[in-house]
Amino acid sequence: MKDKKLRSSEWFGRTGKDGFIYRSWMKNQGIPAHEFKGKPVIGICNTWSELTPCNAHFRELAESVKHGIYEAGGFPVEFPVMSLGETLIKPTAMLYRNLVSMDVEESIRANPLDGVVLLCGCDKTTPALIMGACSVNIPTIVVSGGAMLTGKYQGHDIATSDVWRFSEAQRSGRMTEEEMNIAEACMSRSRGHCAVMGTASTMAVMAEALGLTLPENAAIPAADSRRKVLAHMSGIRIVDMVREDLKLSDVLTREAFENAVITNAAIGGSTNFIIHLLAIAGRIGVDLTIDDFDTSAKGIPLLANLQPSGKYFMEDLYYAGGIPAVMKELDAKLNRDALTVTGKPISNHYQNSTCYNRDVIATMGAPFNPLAGITVLKGNICEHGAVMKPSAATPALLQHTGKAVVFENIDDYKSRVDDPDLDIDENSVMVLKNVGPKGYPGMPEVGNMSIPKKLLDKGVTDMVRISDGRMSGTGFGTVALHVSPEAALGGTFAIIQSGDIIELDFKNRSLNVQLSTEEISKRKQHLILNTDLATRGYVYLYQSHVEQSHLGADMDFLKGSSGSEIHKDSH
Ligand code: FES
Repeated sequence: MKDKKLRSSEWFGRTGKDGFIYRSWMKNQGIPAHEFKGKPVIGICNTWSELTPCNAHFRELAESVKHGIYEAGGFPVEFPVMSLGETLIKPTAMLYRNLVSMDVEESIRANPLDGVVLLCGCDKTTPALIMGACSVNIPTIVVSGGAMLTGKYQGHDIATSDVWRFSEAQRSGRMTEEEMNIAEACMSRSRGHCAVMGTASTMAVMAEALGLTLPENAAIPAADSRRKVLAHMSGIRIVDMVREDLKLSDVLTREAFENAVITNAAIGGSTNFIIHLLAIAGRIGVDLTIDDFDTSAKGIPLLANLQPSGKYFMEDLYYAGGIPAVMKELDAKLNRDALTVTGKPISNHYQNSTCYNRDVIATMGAPFNPLAGITVLKGNICEHGAVMKPSAATPALLQHTGKAVVFENIDDYKSRVDDPDLDIDENSVMVLKNVGPKGYPGMPEVGNMSIPKKLLDKGVTDMVRISDGRMSGTGFGTVALHVSPEAALGGTFAIIQSGDIIELDFKNRSLNVQLSTEEISKRKQHLILNTDLATRGYVYLYQSHVEQSHLGADMDFLKGSSGSEIHKDSH
């Protein structure tokens, strides 16, 4: 146990006027004097909001954390930060991930906190909170909110990935509006976030594989009483972490990041994983590049049979043994000694786990799908990279050459996609430009654009689609995303025209347009960029400083850490 002066003593340990001010106003909450006498002060960073339905149960979860903190001799203080609800926030929650990270960073540093518990749930709340905490680097533990129970509709299990199927069924007349209304209530029947391996579940797994949570954090359903137990135990643990001075930078090593990449491949995690993990690495100062995602996950097959890549749901994953059972299977590939928030190596989290259902968690010897992970494509379309999730793609389309059908922006796409005269067939390659970080601030999840109705009616269910935007973690299809540099920067992606021949060569990890270098440079000379640039407010700041997706789409001035010291103290 390290004997380090508590950070909070700079506030509550003071005498005279300053100490009076720091303690007196806190006492208006009915807090007795002994709470201020040398107990570790633990912040509970809460993204509760009724506008973030996935996190709407977080006040209750915070109470469980508090019980644990009190039990261990700490003093809990809950504080709010901006919350990001994926379904309601316009234009896209990703636009505000970096803003929330700033809120978290400054809230932690500015207050008398010795340690912090991050309550994370809906997609962007997890990376935003971890990024912000990394830039302060005090003892930190993550508690995820858990997924919803599996939806039930007309005798079938359903969850978020079915929304895309329902939508296509409705567009082609196979489902009525009334049936859609019934299905929406059947799907969201309990507290928690999306029940498939979408971005929220991916982020919860990422936190567990990084060693930032207690074992089993990712898969316990939100409605299961064991979620409260985990929150309680995390409250106990954070107090000890403060006493041990176990900081985020002790846990978030290069080895921990490699473990997260390997585990993400095995569970078929969301493509958003790349952007968020790169941004977190940038904050904590670990040298991670987009190419590491292919290298570290080489040879890792898909072990988890979960939607959207497979059949089951997060609830099933928990009953089958959860992430510890997946990591046990990956043992030979993982950095077993990577330190976790428990103060023990990650291998301690999984070595005694058991798999109870091999249809949900397969073995390395007989995987659910040999194709896994997130593949990084390079080529003249995407010099800095584009990403693809092969487990969610159609195998026959992974080697494909076809004529481009170009949509210059999302409005152009919406106005023409269902035009019966659109010159497109199932072999075409759909290209959507100007939905990258700068071109459409926040990179909306429109990359898995819907297939034209006239092709849907013919029974076409997948096509090669390319964009500089993102795709929902619950989405699927043969979709190349995150093209970098994005169209708004005027790279080769920006000059592709309808009729150009595009070649996706998954085996060789390449994505090219068949144009000569002379033709490419001629078109670039005549290219007119017409990106809408904001002139004030946060969007102005974002567009002025956001980096490309292959770097994590963080803002350039937010990279790294400013530490926990307060350099100008007015008291
Ligand atoms: Fe919140 Fe899917 S909408 S996790």
